[in-house]
Amino acid sequence: MTQAPAPFPTARLRRLRATPALRALVRETSLTPSDLIWPIFLMQGTAESVPVPSMPGVHRLTVDRAVEAAQEARRLGIPAMCLFPYTAMEHRTADCSEAWNPDNLTNRAIRAIKDAVPEVAVMTDIALDPYNIDGHDGFVEDGEIVNDRTVDALVRMALAQAASGADILGPSDMMDGRIGAIRRALESEGFQNTTILSYAAKYASAFYGPFRDAVGATAALKGEKKTYQMDPGNSAEALRLVARDLSEGADMVMVKPGMPYLDICRRVKDEFGVPTFAYQVSGEYAMLRAAEANGWLDGPRVMIESLLAFKRAGCDGVLTYYAPEAARALNG
Ligand code: PBG
Repeated sequence: MTQAPAPFPTARLRRLRATPALRALVRETSLTPSDLIWPIFLMQGTAESVPVPSMPGVHRLTVDRAVEAAQEARRLGIPAMCLFPYTAMEHRTADCSEAWNPDNLTNRAIRAIKDAVPEVAVMTDIALDPYNIDGHDGFVEDGEIVNDRTVDALVRMALAQAASGADILGPSDMMDGRIGAIRRALESEGFQNTTILSYAAKYASAFYGPFRDAVGATAALKGEKKTYQMDPGNSAEALRLVARDLSEGADMVMVKPGMPYLDICRRVKDEFGVPTFAYQVSGEYAMLRAAEANGWLDGPRVMIESLLAFKRAGCDGVLTYYAPEAARALNG
């Protein structure tokens, strides 16, 4: 319970805000580089990086450059990176078979990073959208995104990533039953220690726009994702999804997007007390960067404030495109 303050002037709540030392002493939440997961975009080729126009400061990286990024993560104290592939158009098909190709871009990058920088945890994305001619996270049959056939494909994708050495699998597809199916397959194939960070409460959000540009999915996507991603009006449903994914074998859960959904982060943390993450998604990053570029916001300060807010809302960590810059700022 919050202690009611004595009446003024016995209590002057400004006393504890008077100096940097006092403010530091009573600050309730802290942010460190170890709270950050750094999402990066992969592309074919060598020694190249291509800027993503709608995400200033973010580049698509060839695998060798991704390894350099992992080395930077290690230097900066960022514990984990999350990989998203920009798949060549000829590898996007209706059967999505590139998704479980052991030599696809993601699997090659996992092996290269784990080989060079084993200390950094590698997280993946499990969903069919980078490989799907329809741009959806699941197979499309007669205009419907089908669940169970998609789950079978996601399991194959998960096993290929686990076999490549991924530390954290991130199912972001929102199909029902995928966590249980992936967990059973991991157990029976000898990957008992591969962790799952479930995108448990993922909303059908307009804040993913710049990401879809970055992975080349904008043009491909036919229709919306509202039949599998959550309705932004819902909150209790997020708790049902988290409970369901935990019962099926998720080790950690995510709320996505982040900043407009801090109430969901708080409810999830209070209700379950499990490792809880938020994704400060591409659109949140883009709008802060755009305001900064216009001179309307102080970029470095809103970066740290926005990330600290996730910790205050109960999150254990944040996926953020700011990860390297924030870590540099925090390391002083
Ligand atoms: C796809 C996926 C998306 C993001 C992460 N994985 C986009 C989507 O669901 O359409 C969004 C990340 C971001 O916007 O930064 N499964």
